[in-house]
Amino acid sequence: MRSKYTIFLVFVVALVIIEKENNIISRVSDKLTPRQTPQTPLYPNGSVSVLLTQNGSYSSLSELDPAFKRLKNRLENYALQFLHQVDNEQSNPRKHILLMATTRTGSSFVGEFFNQQGSNMFYLFEPLWHVERMVTFEARGANAVAASIVYRDILQQLFLCDLHVLEHFISPLPEHHITPSLFRRGSSRSLCEDPVCTPFVKKTFEKYHCKNRRCGPLNLTLAAESCLSKQHRAIKTVRVRQLESLQPLLEDSRLQMKIIQLVRDPRAILASRMVAFSSKYENWKKWAVNGEVPIEDEEVQKLKGNCENIRLSAEVGLRQPSWLKARYMLVRYEDIARYPMQKAAEMYRFTGIPFTRQVKEWILKNTQGSKESGGVYSTKKNSSEQFEKWRFRMPYQLAQVVQKVCGPAMELFGYKLIEDPMTLTNRSISLLEEKVFHFTYL
Ligand SMILES: *[C@@H]1O[C@H](CO)[C@@H](O)[C@H](O)[C@H]1NC(C)=O
Ligand SMILES: *[C@@H]1O[C@H](CO)[C@@H](O)[C@H](O)[C@H]1NC(C)=O
Ligand SMILES: *[C@@H]1O[C@H](CO)[C@@H](O)[C@H](O)[C@H]1NC(C)=O
Ligand SMILES: *[C@@H]1O[C@H](CO)[C@@H](O)[C@H](O)[C@H]1NC(C)=O
Ligand SMILES: *[C@@H]1O[C@H](CO)[C@@H](O)[C@H](O)[C@H]1NC(C)=O
Repeated sequence: MRSKYTIFLVFVVALVIIEKENNIISRVSDKLTPRQTPQTPLYPNGSVSVLLTQNGSYSSLSELDPAFKRLKNRLENYALQFLHQVDNEQSNPRKHILLMATTRTGSSFVGEFFNQQGSNMFYLFEPLWHVERMVTFEARGANAVAASIVYRDILQQLFLCDLHVLEHFISPLPEHHITPSLFRRGSSRSLCEDPVCTPFVKKTFEKYHCKNRRCGPLNLTLAAESCLSKQHRAIKTVRVRQLESLQPLLEDSRLQMKIIQLVRDPRAILASRMVAFSSKYENWKKWAVNGEVPIEDEEVQKLKGNCENIRLSAEVGLRQPSWLKARYMLVRYEDIARYPMQKAAEMYRFTGIPFTRQVKEWILKNTQGSKESGGVYSTKKNSSEQFEKWRFRMPYQLAQVVQKVCGPAMELFGYKLIEDPMTLTNRSISLLEEKVFHFTYL
């Protein structure tokens, strides 16, 4: 295959050179005498047309000669670049990865596996945050369906690099496609590197600014261009509730979608939420103290609804209907916490994207934690130490409630139910079944 392209390209390059040479020579012979326009330097962006459309006004053959050399070099570079691209796209076609999770499942951490991939990856952290805020959906009934359609369509546009689709949802409205308000911009390497990182502007406050360097407010057009130039795209979201709602994306021939669903023990999720979103869980804390939990309470029912959505999505994924063949993978947070490198390698194998040295280094650095903490969204933890901490801060009564309403999901994912408070805090009893989910890799 490669040699075919090579022959073809060399042929084309030769033709182009000969054609242009004749062209210039004939023009030059017309105009050899008076010099008409000042010499235009070759543009550093490598545009061949620049050389050839400047009216052919080379004033002498001695100038022409180096110009040809440069032209020839450039054409060769193009040929090489093109070959490289063709080669890359054959052995490694563009992939679109959706990391589908719920809050407190370690999705920021797992998102980093892709964010850190390197210069081939365009990663967005939770872009649907803006959408949810702007269109405060009631997460039930017809409105939940409406929300899932809006989310799906926006994801589709984002995967196609139409970042402008987000503008309607960003507040305050971006001006001339520039915004200082994109949620968690700093969590996306591609939004903080050249050329998307424009020179810093002193008077603009950017809440979610880049971490390692100071940049001007985000130019969404530049970001979209960067997106288009990357080979792979990944988006992390905690806002897609049902896998089935994404079917049209998987059937969109412009996209090579791969979905990774990330799940975690719902008891641990609740424990973690009670810390991270403390004020929203006053009722739960009260129930824990009273020792009695009203199962019919709206909040308990909401938890049940969440668990059911996660379970139903996973059941669809594990069943592997034709639209999901080789495109769905289920991962447990607990397995990632215990075997981060192995799990990351598996995820990369599933996506078909090269597992780079940068990712490996990032994982090594960030799983053998340091003691200092980085806030509730911190990804820097001793992961194998962290994942069971919840067992020592969750009141047994609450664990029981979760088991009651999330039982089917827990069973599917291999989270063991407990029947007494001693088991909850006994470290030598694992609450995890070793479970292997099988996926087709393509
Ligand atoms: C190259 O740069 C010149 C001048 O900056 C510009 O006019 C031209 O459109 C550029 N060409 C490409 C292909 O970017
Ligand atoms: C090209 O040459 C013609 C006359 O030879 C001149 O009128 C015209 O301005 C030139 N154009 C450019 C872009 O230099
Ligand atoms: C944003 O980037 C685009 C694409 O490079 C550019 O054309 C536009 O002028 C930029 N906007 C501003 C306000 O700098
Ligand atoms: C992380 O935690 C595990 C399990 O407690 C422990 O064996 C390991 O030494 C810890 N690593 C670091 C770097 O603290
Ligand atoms: C914890 O569980 C182990 C294994 O079941 C048991 O041998 C041990 O006695 C338990 N420890 C406590 C403090 O209950």
